[in-house]
Amino acid sequence: MNFYDSDKIGNILKKLGYGFTNNLAEANLIVLNTCHIRDKAVEKTYSDLGRIKKTIEINHNHMQKPIIAVAGCVAQAQGEEIMKRSPWVDIVVGPQAYTELPKLISKVNKIEKQRLVNIDFPTIPKFDFLDHNLIEQKRSAFLTIQEGCDKFCSFCVVPYTRGPEFSRSTESILEEVKFLVKKGVREVILLGQNVNAWKYKSKTGKNWSFGNLIEEIAKFENIFSIKYTTSHPLDIDIELLNAHKNVEKLMPYLHLPIQSGSDNILKKMNRKHTVKDYLKIIEKVREFRPDIAISSDFIIGFPGESSEDHEKTIKLINEVKFSSSYSFKYSPRPGTPSALFSDQIDESIKKERLLQIQELLKIHQIKFNKETINKKMNILIAEKNKKNQFVGKSPYNQTVIIENVLNPKFQKETIKENNEKCYVGEIKNVKIIKAFQNSLEGLIFSENKLRN
Ligand code: 5AD
Ligand code: SF4
Repeated sequence: MNFYDSDKIGNILKKLGYGFTNNLAEANLIVLNTCHIRDKAVEKTYSDLGRIKKTIEINHNHMQKPIIAVAGCVAQAQGEEIMKRSPWVDIVVGPQAYTELPKLISKVNKIEKQRLVNIDFPTIPKFDFLDHNLIEQKRSAFLTIQEGCDKFCSFCVVPYTRGPEFSRSTESILEEVKFLVKKGVREVILLGQNVNAWKYKSKTGKNWSFGNLIEEIAKFENIFSIKYTTSHPLDIDIELLNAHKNVEKLMPYLHLPIQSGSDNILKKMNRKHTVKDYLKIIEKVREFRPDIAISSDFIIGFPGESSEDHEKTIKLINEVKFSSSYSFKYSPRPGTPSALFSDQIDESIKKERLLQIQELLKIHQIKFNKETINKKMNILIAEKNKKNQFVGKSPYNQTVIIENVLNPKFQKETIKENNEKCYVGEIKNVKIIKAFQNSLEGLIFSENKLRN
């Protein structure tokens, strides 16, 4: 979501006449977009701010000090603290208020030494003010449709930093899809902290579900692929299941975090579902889309996690056989209930358990990847890499590296095509020949336009 927001911030600044530079030393405005979800991400904010300070000091003699803005969720949660700890920062702006950047910048420009903080949750959502210009040409684009969360898991800062659940209007989402298609985008990845909680009542009185929205986006002829992230188990409804069954363009991939395999821990996390509920949901999803790849997030070493709880997480992983997953050591976040729980787990135990979980997740991921060898799948070619190979994602969200078809060692197996032909943005039928932990290798077979 921060990538999406950063693009939008870039659009806003472009209108003010700013351009981009990869060289920090020559920037006259620096915007640091930040994440507050775990303490590692927050530490990064402060170390990046230190790096920025050094650059300014080196350039001090021959350049006017650039305007420095900190945006995003650390700005939201620690605005005053950032101002105190980093006197070289001029602007702090929260994730819902960055449309105000032009005003803030002009104030900083006018009045010497004025420092400004805006961490409001405006009543008119920011989406009404956003311009949809694409900064780079992309084939796959993120599209935020929902923000915020009302679930209040006891470990999580999102309800405080991103605010309550908000669903963007169908009209404004479809308008953005239309724009993206015009710009050559062929895949949309719908985003939300609770993306499948998206719902909307239109002016005509129609109640839209997330599944309905997916069906509507699939009607765009030049959209070949639709994905979404992140979902909550309790918000999976029959319309979404039906979309997985009926909408060919909706990819068979579901990121459905469970966080722990122990009911005790899920309860303390305030997840409002049990392991059994989760397994039932997975069973249902697989009934509608048997080949669906399921991934999850895990928090390891949540307060009070016993070795039995940890074993239960291992059992669940072996039962579901996730295609891939993210796992993190529990990180107490300021202002969240679980940060105050008295039964915090030792760092060394967290580390040990995390390694064990990651090892197991890796085994399942490699196994899942290996099962695709010799299968043919339709893949949207997203880019060409430095080695002149094409790169895309499989329907199951695996990265696929596609060897150039004119490489002599593959000529017999593949159709002969012009080496210079650019496949980027096209769907190709690809045969998977090798599988690794984080990617697959494939060869192009035919010119299919649509997915199987
Ligand atoms: N500690 C560790 N991991 C966390 N996550 C969210 N909050 C915390 C925390 N306090 C993880 C969850 C979530 C993902 C985005 O980040 O697994 O699904
Ligand atoms: Fe955080 Fe997700 Fe829980 Fe919401 S549902 S509080 S975003 S972990």
